[in-house]
Amino acid sequence: MQSLTTTSLRIRENQLWILDQQALPQRSDWRECRNVSELVDHIRTLRVRGAPLIGLSASLLLALLAEQGMSQDALLDSLETLRASRPTAVNLMNNLDRMKAALHQSDYVKALAEEALRLVEEDRALCDSIADHGAALVTHGSRLLTHCNTGGLATAGVGTAIGVIRRAHGLGNVQQVWVDETRPLLQGGRLTAWELGELGIPYQLICDSMAASLMAQKRVDAIWVGADRIAANGDVANKIGTYSLAVLAKYHGIPFYVAAPHTTHDPHCPNGSAIPIEQRAASEVTGVSGSFGAVQWAPDDAQVYNPAFDVTPAELISGWVLDVGVVTPVQVRDGILTQALK
Ligand code: MRU
Repeated sequence: MQSLTTTSLRIRENQLWILDQQALPQRSDWRECRNVSELVDHIRTLRVRGAPLIGLSASLLLALLAEQGMSQDALLDSLETLRASRPTAVNLMNNLDRMKAALHQSDYVKALAEEALRLVEEDRALCDSIADHGAALVTHGSRLLTHCNTGGLATAGVGTAIGVIRRAHGLGNVQQVWVDETRPLLQGGRLTAWELGELGIPYQLICDSMAASLMAQKRVDAIWVGADRIAANGDVANKIGTYSLAVLAKYHGIPFYVAAPHTTHDPHCPNGSAIPIEQRAASEVTGVSGSFGAVQWAPDDAQVYNPAFDVTPAELISGWVLDVGVVTPVQVRDGILTQALK
């Protein structure tokens, strides 16, 4: 397969490499990813993370394994193993459905490579369109708040919510970004802070619990987040903590935007309650770990609740900023979302 470079994926000499998102920002470690069990481990440990990136890495690995001579049956098993690696982000399932169709073609080796590279190129273009549509909503001097990480690390392109912020900053309209640290895994504190720093976008890092008082002080003009799955009725699953931001935004009269590509839409999920929510290990809440080491502060036998995502109901969302354009709450109520995302 031809060489390829995104912020966090590389193909070199027919091998997939991933930028370890658990080591950032202290270290930029590129790790080789030779087989399905390695990639599943990278995905489960969030070395590879972000809804679009999970789907793209799985698709690229399948195409490479086909080129290395893996049989059609083994590829199908591998595809289903990858599909089960994380449950919430539907981009993985959507991408793998397309790869499965390619796998059933007679020249499946060629078809898989072409489809995987097409998915990467499409994701780049989707990010650009989202950034264009979203930036038009950002007024001069905006102080924007974002949660988790939705940038080049999580996609093949400029990102979704961060792509919008980046484009709006390029137009001179962003005064600063409030970055939620995003407990428990700190995607904001580690990754978004790093990305915005690299991009030269002014930001201040806050603990998640500080967002409410900033809003009360009228120091947040809009909130921009990504999505892991958008249900047919417009409900959105995204990183845990997104829902509380949306409730706060409603109370304070602050616009709350969701930026996502159509590959995040699941027309088979009627509403948010049908979205599977990943539950994760207790150790992520009882302490923290990374390239800096591990620390635990809670008692060894602490009982823990650790959902990776929450669901924001459509009624709290001011706009769904998609590659196809901005869908408004009125349009969502009229059932236009599913039509727009086809
Ligand atoms: O658990 P993560 O870090 O994979 O969760 C990521 C998010 O919730 C992002 O907001 C979402 O995937 C959109 S990334 C463009």
